[in-house]
Amino acid sequence: MIPRKNILSFFCSSHFYSKFFRYYSTYPSSFFKINSKFDSDQIYDFRSDTVTKPTDEMFDIMRNASRNDDVLDEDESTNELETYMAELTGHEAALFVPSGTMTNQIAIRAHLSTPPHSVLCDFRSHICNYEAGGIAYHSQASVTPLKPSNKLFLTCSEIESELIVTDDIHYAPTRVISLENTLNGLLFPIDEIHKISKLAKKSNIKLHLDGARLWNACAETNSSLQTFTKNFDSVSLCLSKSIGAPIGSVLVGNKEFIKTAKHLRKLFGGGWRQCGLLAAAAKFAIASNFPDNLKKSHLLTKKLSNELFNLGIHITLPVHTNMIFIDTKSINITTGELANRLALHNILIFGNNSTTTRLVLHYQIPPISIEKFIDVVANIIKEKKN
Ligand SMILES: Cc1ncc(COP(=O)(O)O)c(C=O)c1O
Repeated sequence: MIPRKNILSFFCSSHFYSKFFRYYSTYPSSFFKINSKFDSDQIYDFRSDTVTKPTDEMFDIMRNASRNDDVLDEDESTNELETYMAELTGHEAALFVPSGTMTNQIAIRAHLSTPPHSVLCDFRSHICNYEAGGIAYHSQASVTPLKPSNKLFLTCSEIESELIVTDDIHYAPTRVISLENTLNGLLFPIDEIHKISKLAKKSNIKLHLDGARLWNACAETNSSLQTFTKNFDSVSLCLSKSIGAPIGSVLVGNKEFIKTAKHLRKLFGGGWRQCGLLAAAAKFAIASNFPDNLKKSHLLTKKLSNELFNLGIHITLPVHTNMIFIDTKSINITTGELANRLALHNILIFGNNSTTTRLVLHYQIPPISIEKFIDVVANIIKEKKN
């Protein structure tokens, strides 16, 4: 078995993250030099909500999961999760898939048939920036990335004015509109989603939602998943982000769509065999964390954001759920220096030579770490003044 410390070192290393997140860049490798004797149980990891660790209770649940072959459709725990997710989202069927990237890419591929065709989305969205160019590779589609003029979410009228619905052979018609909720932690207003859904139906365009963090949107707005999911032809929901499961995403849609998706999952190499233990862990994570633990982490996020703002740090996007985007220029420190100082207190953030970064909270970030975080920043500011 790899020692825990080595696993952590790998995931914190710049090697792992450097190419991954263009805008939040690398975590300084100095952490492990500075902090050679840390206890991994006391690490407060603000880099992402993907970092939550499976709990002992989760392992107990995994031990009792079914152990059959899902490619042969024989695994009870997997079928149970899929039925549960279909019911929760008000869709006919669901498919358990290894990653959020795979659910999104399968969904887009399943909605599209023959090129030329295109997918319209927010220019910041995961599907067009962080899925390794998957839309071009898997679906031979071009992307129409739009910049929302309100800087928060795309409006129906913005989308309508950019749809490609002409027969002119110079263009690739829009066949899919893909939204993301939350996006950078921002809530997509439900009224706007209703309008976009109507527009998509009227225009005979499929509407997909990257709902990797739809759980957060629902927890924050006290809404059921169905409030959002019923407006879409397909929705991808991640289980390995703030909901806290170790691995997996679920794609929902109608029966025919999920049948195609299942075929494509196999083609993508994502047909998994004895995955019941992961499905059981995911169902347990949903029951344990949604919505209350997410709500708590949103409250802590707002607390941290308010305190940082009061200390003079610029908060560059509104804080709706579990993410804070900061600019440390005003306190004259790079995010790399801040990361190194926080690392001395077992707090992990992404940092580099720039002054902007993203902080992400999740249910394994306790209130005590917020106090520590604030203390470190307050001390740095005090030192700079002296
Ligand atoms: C909004 C969004 N969608 C999709 C994904 C992809 O998920 P995965 O890392 O499981 O491929 C991510 C990952 O961070 C994400 O933030």
